[in-house]
Amino acid sequence: MESACADFMKANAMKPFDFYRCPRVVFGPGRISEVGSLASRYGSRALVVTGSESLDLSGNWDRIAGSLKASSVTFDRFRVKGEPSPDLVDRAVRGFQEPSPDVVVAVGGGSVIDCAKAVAAMLPLREPVAPYLEGVGDGHHPGTTLPLIAAPTTAGTGSEATKNAVLSRVGTDGFKKSLRHDHFTPACALLDPGLTLDCPPRVTAACGMDAFTQLLESYVSPKASPLTDALAFSGIEHVSPCLLPACTDRAHDLQCRSSLMVAAFLSGVTLANAGLGVIHGLAGPLGARIPMPHGMVCATLLWEACRTNIMRIREQRGADDAVLVKYARVGRVLSGAPEADVLRGCELLLEKLEAWTGSLKIPRLGDYGLRESDLDALVARAGQKANPVQLDATDVKEILMARL
Ligand SMILES: [Fe+2]
Repeated sequence: MESACADFMKANAMKPFDFYRCPRVVFGPGRISEVGSLASRYGSRALVVTGSESLDLSGNWDRIAGSLKASSVTFDRFRVKGEPSPDLVDRAVRGFQEPSPDVVVAVGGGSVIDCAKAVAAMLPLREPVAPYLEGVGDGHHPGTTLPLIAAPTTAGTGSEATKNAVLSRVGTDGFKKSLRHDHFTPACALLDPGLTLDCPPRVTAACGMDAFTQLLESYVSPKASPLTDALAFSGIEHVSPCLLPACTDRAHDLQCRSSLMVAAFLSGVTLANAGLGVIHGLAGPLGARIPMPHGMVCATLLWEACRTNIMRIREQRGADDAVLVKYARVGRVLSGAPEADVLRGCELLLEKLEAWTGSLKIPRLGDYGLRESDLDALVARAGQKANPVQLDATDVKEILMARL
């Protein structure tokens, strides 16, 4: 028993950790019809932030509007197309500050939820958002925000669980930066997998790969805790068997969509508490440089970045390193090979990620206009605060080169 304890402690050395508040979770097919009663807890006037017309075409907008009316909640609607910019947030704040809504409801993908989160945070301040973005301005947001109900229509970013909103400006002087405060976590995550049934295969693939990347990066993060490990591994178990089927023959399977939706939410919880690695450290600068969807950026880097991390950890810390044990555990689950040792488990993980990259036809960075001459500037801006091993500039550039 003593030896078992010693082995466990070697692989699971406990460090101090924080775990932030989560939203109230309302999960289940059809539960979008409860949005009115949920909103009415906060008042009688809502601002509803949505994406383009797919919500209208599916009939879900009628359900949402009907539910709000049935609960005597009056509402305005603000539509978001593409990834939100500071200008878009400012326009919404100017347009809806008088009279101010009591609650903001977001129904859409990560971009819609991020935009709504920023609008909810800026409406009480009635100021432009850019000075409050990390790395852009030096404003300190006091954390006053309107309550936000976040109902995702894609299973990906996990924004419904996080305390930051990512805003971006695309171009050579572009940026992708966060508005962040502990109080910005949505009050409620309304997880209705029925909203994702019409999500097209390309979007399902990109979002699912984003969720998986977030789960894996937070699972192997130096800031991981027993709480984030439990949630991240559960998320990985849910997303891995369902990702390909949801992009092909089981796109309309509610159980499959439910697994992806729960995994995406869990990825938001784990990234908020354990941080992310070099893939997301590159995704920010890349997203500001080329118009590649965030999920596709993560998907295209995933296999190469994991291969580099595993190689460097093995060289520097040996084949029985605790992070390699974690990578191997994921490899065993993904491949259904519980008997594989650490080395083989890591190989199985990389084989599966390579297979996903091929099966899902993940595009390359060059397909979106990235050139070799862009790489040094991107490497200089890449973050890797919560990567399990510090990679040098050559390693990071080689990850990008391999996916050019
Ligand atoms: Fe992500």
